[in-house]
Amino acid sequence: MDLMAVRLGFVGTGGIANRHLSCAQKSEDMEIVATCDVVLDRAQEAADKYGGTAYADFVEMYDAEKPDAIVICTPPFAHGDIEEEAAKRGIHIFVEKPVAISMEMAKGVLDAVREYEVITQVGYMFRLSEPIRKAQQMLSERAIAMVQAHYYMPGLPNKGWWTKLDMGGGQLVEQATHMLDLGRFLAGDVRSVIGKVSTVHDWTPPADYEEPAGLVSFKEGFEIPDTTALILEYESGAMGTLSCSLVPQVKWDNGFKVVAEGALVTIDGPNASWESEDGEYEEAAPGDWADAVLTQFVDAVQGKGEATIPYEEGVRSLAISLAGYESVARGNAPVELAEILPEDL
Ligand SMILES: NC(=O)c1ccc[n+]([C@@H]2O[C@H](COP(=O)([O-])OP(=O)(O)OC[C@H]3O[C@@H](n4cnc5c(N)ncnc54)[C@H](O)[C@@H]3O)[C@@H](O)[C@H]2O)c1
Repeated sequence: MDLMAVRLGFVGTGGIANRHLSCAQKSEDMEIVATCDVVLDRAQEAADKYGGTAYADFVEMYDAEKPDAIVICTPPFAHGDIEEEAAKRGIHIFVEKPVAISMEMAKGVLDAVREYEVITQVGYMFRLSEPIRKAQQMLSERAIAMVQAHYYMPGLPNKGWWTKLDMGGGQLVEQATHMLDLGRFLAGDVRSVIGKVSTVHDWTPPADYEEPAGLVSFKEGFEIPDTTALILEYESGAMGTLSCSLVPQVKWDNGFKVVAEGALVTIDGPNASWESEDGEYEEAAPGDWADAVLTQFVDAVQGKGEATIPYEEGVRSLAISLAGYESVARGNAPVELAEILPEDL
C-alpha cells in the first residue's frame, strides 16, 4: 500500500532551508505545502523555486495549510512559539540545531512536545552518516579514553545574528554543537565542562572594506569569541576536548580523533576511518548523506520507522555549550551538566 506523502511546511527559508527543500522536492514521500519567513520575499522565493504557498506568519500558515509536519530553519534566537504553536496543533517538528539560544527557551518547547506527543527530530545530520554510524558501533564495544573534537571555520558567515551572542550564541552554540552532539553519540553523556574563550582577530572593518557574500573577515559589531576551547569529562570517565575557531584562514575542517582500547578512530566531516586490532577501515559518505536526517523524520511521521534524534537529544547537546559559557562566567571552574539541564531530563 502506498503511504500518503507527508505535507510539509517550512519555517525560516534562508540558507540551510534550501538543502531540506531540495531534498523534499526530490522525494515522493514529501509534499511542500507552504513556506514561511518573516521576510516574505524569502518565503516567496522558496515557494517559486520549490512549491507551496508563501506566508510571513507561521500561525497563519499552520491554520490555513494544516501541515502534517514542519521543518524549522530559523536562527538560534528565533525558536519557542514556532514549535509550541505547532505542537499544540499536533504538527510534527523537524528543527535545525541548535534547538534554542537558552535552556529556558528549550525547556518550554520540551514541555510542549512531550505534552502533545508530536514526533520530533533535530538536524544533527552527522549522526546519520553511514561511516560514522559504523564507527559508533565499533566504539560501543570498547572503552573510550579520549574524544578530541574540532570545528574550524575559515571566516564568519555574513549574517547579522551570527555576530551577536544573544541571537546566535556564538560558534560554540551555533556550530560546534554538531561536534558536541556527535561526541555524545560516540561516547555517551558528558558529566562536566570547563570552558575558555578568546578573541584573537581584529574584526573591525578597514576603512575601504567592501563586504563580500559568504564568509567574511571583518564585521561591524562583532561581539562573539572567535576562538574557544572546552575540556569535557564524560559520564564513562572518558576525557574530551573541543577546539573551535572562526579566525579567517583557508579551509573548513571539522572532525574527531577518538582513542579507544585497541582502536584509533578519525572522523573527518561525514567520513570515518580507523585502525584497530582487527584491521583497518575507511569509508567516505555518499554525496547525499546529509538528506538522511530529514528522510528518517518523514519515515517516522509516515509510521515507517523511528526518528532517532528527538528534541530531548537537542536539549542535552545544547546544555554542553551552555555549560561551557557558564564555566567561562565562573572563571573557568568546572560546570556539571546536571546544573544546566532541566530536572526532568
Ligand atoms: N545542519 C546543518 O548543517 C546546518 C547548516 C547551516 C545552518 N544550520 C542551522 O539552521 C539555522 C538557520 O541557519 P541559516 O544559515 O539558514 O540562517 P539564515 O539567516 O540564512 O536563515 C534564517 C531565516 O529565518 C528567518 N526567520 C527568522 N526569524 C523567523 C521567524 N520568527 N519566523 C519565520 N522566519 C524567521 C530569517 O528571515 C531567515 O530567512 C541555524 O540554527 C543554523 O545553525 C544548520
